[in-house]
Amino acid sequence: MPRVVDSLEELREAAGRLRQRDQRIGFVPTMGNLHRGHLSLVEDAGRRCEAVIASIFVNPTQFGPGEDYEAYPRTLEADLEALASVSCDLVWAPPIEIMYPLDDPFMLRVPEALSDRLCGRSRPGHFDGVATVVLRLFSQVQPDVAVFGEKDFQQLLILRRMARDLSLPVELVGAPIVREEDGLAMSSRNGYLDDQQRAVAPLLFRVLEETVEGLASGEDFAGLKARAEKKLESAGFRPDYLEWRSAENLGEPRPGEPSRLFGAAWLGKARLIDNVEVPAT
Ligand code: PAJ
Repeated sequence: MPRVVDSLEELREAAGRLRQRDQRIGFVPTMGNLHRGHLSLVEDAGRRCEAVIASIFVNPTQFGPGEDYEAYPRTLEADLEALASVSCDLVWAPPIEIMYPLDDPFMLRVPEALSDRLCGRSRPGHFDGVATVVLRLFSQVQPDVAVFGEKDFQQLLILRRMARDLSLPVELVGAPIVREEDGLAMSSRNGYLDDQQRAVAPLLFRVLEETVEGLASGEDFAGLKARAEKKLESAGFRPDYLEWRSAENLGEPRPGEPSRLFGAAWLGKARLIDNVEVPAT
């Protein structure tokens, strides 16, 4: 089992010791309830750095009113067992009083052009909370490299922009989406699905893939989008968005530049998100 620390003194002492041995520190922030997607990030960090620290903290400031902060699965024992199967030197699991000592905490504000679209539009303030906690985690852990999943592509892009804007001395790395065998992107929120919902859940990925194929054969996006949303609705999803965006700035996709197709949809209690690359034409 990796060692778990929950005080700043222990964290600084343990991370300091790793650093003294000239070990570069790779860092993987998580909210726990770990699955193979999270573990792939830990492995990626281990390929890039001599030492790996993972954090587990369910961050209240990124959940909106009425969202699933209280219900979010907290499974520390199982998470530690999962981390024991990969190479992880230290787990930082801070209590809330350490992460947020003030009742009225200092908060970052993500620029609107990045936060007013996709997940940011239906979750106002969400990315401010993400940026705020990740900056805190970076200043606590002081990693050389931090690995984030492309599953949350908008989050990755915003955090890259934050690191550049604030001159943070950390390299941000994106890692590919890990999927179940039927294509469903792994997510802690998949646990909210009942058996019947779980069986239809891979449709989100399938309609994204079909839409990409349609784009490749020159079909118009508006028509493809309408068809995809109808398909999702007939299967019991409540689509939130289906958008084709630049992979560099989430603006309008431009010919010859990298772009992705982004989808989010409710299925019962779960809000599922996914995205796929659109090959350049
Ligand atoms: P969480 O949802 O626990 O995800 C932690 C990291 O795992 C994120 O970088 C996320 O993109 C990545 N991840 C999740 N599912 C994945 C999958 N199927 N394949 C690859 N990577 C996957 O994202 C958060 O926590 C929080 O917002 C956090 C950054 C920790 C800040 O609180």
